[in-house]
Amino acid sequence: MSASAPTRSAARSRSDFHRHPAIAAALPFINGGAAGMIATSIIQPVDMVKVRLQLAGEGLSAAAKPSPITITKDIIAQGRVLDLYSGLSAGLLRQAVYTTARMGFFSTFMSNFQAKAHAEKRSVTFAERAGASLAAGGLGAILGNPCDLALIRMQSDGLRPLAERKNYTSVVNALARISREEGIMALWNGCIPTVARAMALNFGQLAFYSESKAQLAKIGIFEGYPGQEALRNLGASAVAGFFASFFSLPFDFVKTRLQKQTKGPDGKLPYRGTLHCAMKVAKEEGLLRFYRGFGTYYVRIAPHAMLTVLFADWFLQLTKTGSV
Ligand SMILES: *[C@@H]1O[C@H](CO)[C@@H](O)[C@H](O)[C@H]1NC(C)=O
Repeated sequence: MSASAPTRSAARSRSDFHRHPAIAAALPFINGGAAGMIATSIIQPVDMVKVRLQLAGEGLSAAAKPSPITITKDIIAQGRVLDLYSGLSAGLLRQAVYTTARMGFFSTFMSNFQAKAHAEKRSVTFAERAGASLAAGGLGAILGNPCDLALIRMQSDGLRPLAERKNYTSVVNALARISREEGIMALWNGCIPTVARAMALNFGQLAFYSESKAQLAKIGIFEGYPGQEALRNLGASAVAGFFASFFSLPFDFVKTRLQKQTKGPDGKLPYRGTLHCAMKVAKEEGLLRFYRGFGTYYVRIAPHAMLTVLFADWFLQLTKTGSV
């Protein structure tokens, strides 16, 4: 029996399990979600130490400021290792939904484009990679929005007066009750800026990772080095990390402005929506305002974006189901 033509009657060899249509279709999603969750588990403690560092440094002279090492040592010495992971479950759930969807859709769309390009004896175009990344990011954010909303509701429930609390027992309970009490569309309230930001981020991360990898292979810059493929992926992921931050920051800025806006003296909100906010800021504060705080944003976004594509690509190679 040839490996490429498995039959139902014959026992399939173990290495062929990924060729089963249902498993082959699910693997890009599972790989992507796992990659995002691993990236979050690695970045979360780093983020936590960073926040502690920023808080600890307040009002102290440079000499007295703690270093990342002393902060980490202190946390471990106090037997509070789990502190490093507070808030992790919310982050993991977000990855399990949003990143599973976006990475899975991207790999799936790309496999189709690759097959088409192969049949037409050409390579995949940047427009195709861009289309796949924008669609995947948008779909991921639409699917992830109800989950984010449920998490925010659960987190803020504890801050309400006792009598007004909803006492959600789980994310599923919150989702069911919000849709029952407020209508199913309430789960997508205010999702436009989130979807726009996700599309921009995934365009920067996925289209640029995939394109850079193809370009680096074409130039042959790491040709002949040991681990040339890993070097290529690492280089491409650095490009992806930069563009993920670069394209998404203006959208992140608008999203934050919209979320934080309060009524003015005339009783009206300053911004009517995503587009109105973007245009008003551009006109009144200038285009550069969108890039204020790029350094901080980059440090928050790029490492996670890099780890996610690197792990996802590695898992796809291990399970031989295409690439990112
Ligand atoms: C939630 O629990 C508090 C008491 O802990 C109660 O006063 C409140 O009515 C409960 N909310 C709902 C919706 O059951």
